[in-house]
Amino acid sequence: MKPSSPPLTLDGIRSLLDTQALGARIELHQQVDSTNRAAFALAQAGAEHGTVVVAEGQTQGRGRLGRAWHSPPGLNLYCSIIVKTSLPATRFSQWLSWLPLAAALGASEAVEGTALLQTDLKWPNDLLVRERKIGGILCESGSTASSTPFQVVGIGLNVNGTGDDFPPDLRAASTTIRQETGRLLDRNHLLSRLLLEIEHCLTELTAEGSRRIAMAYTRRCITLGRHVRVLLAGGEEFTGIAEAIEPDGSLQVSKYPRPADGRRSDVRSLRTADIVHVRPGEITA
Ligand code: BTN
Repeated sequence: MKPSSPPLTLDGIRSLLDTQALGARIELHQQVDSTNRAAFALAQAGAEHGTVVVAEGQTQGRGRLGRAWHSPPGLNLYCSIIVKTSLPATRFSQWLSWLPLAAALGASEAVEGTALLQTDLKWPNDLLVRERKIGGILCESGSTASSTPFQVVGIGLNVNGTGDDFPPDLRAASTTIRQETGRLLDRNHLLSRLLLEIEHCLTELTAEGSRRIAMAYTRRCITLGRHVRVLLAGGEEFTGIAEAIEPDGSLQVSKYPRPADGRRSDVRSLRTADIVHVRPGEITA
């Protein structure tokens, strides 16, 4: 028989929860199409800041850039948090651009705190261990009928599965907490810590702006200094070196190889892109 860890339960999550707002209301589903879709619908109907939707399994888990998120039941964490802010318009856009990065930082800290496993961040918000994906974040924006804006922060973490639990096309590029530590993790514990760490990051971002979040994020971000292949939504593709995270959370990439005639490299500032870490030898002009 396969070893198993406890199921997610409201009592199990709440007995460990130490947050102010995140998780004040939690909807736990055995199965849902997508926790992001469910949280979005709740937010449109006026659900409060901090409402959380969590599921044992998803039938249509959504990933970034229109991809699917593999969501088998009983093994992983699939959760979505409704986030609202009363920041003035002058600060809202910076807050919004840092939200996905701050959530990734919080998720990374939660995995470290519960599983004693260090995760790296790939810009903007993938969690990696040994370059394999262990988690991802999907942020979606919406507004209520009365025009109150809200954000849904969806987090997927690969927790107690093994390589066999991934479809063959995902196996080589993915991993789980169990594969990395050799141990099963209680997902109730992980979720309550995740909400706490994300709440800390959001409080810091809202109260202090992005400076400290940016420093902590940058320390964990292994994209910086790397050769990357960039794929943009319109189909444009190029290679370059990831140089910096800009004040608005964009990734600065200088194109590579450099122009042969001595001109400076073209520098691009990316807000949304698919980034692939590559070895310099893999770069073709
Ligand atoms: C990514 O592509 O890396 C983002 C993946 C985000 C997946 C999570 S699982 C919980 C929430 N519900 C969804 O449908 N997607 C997010």
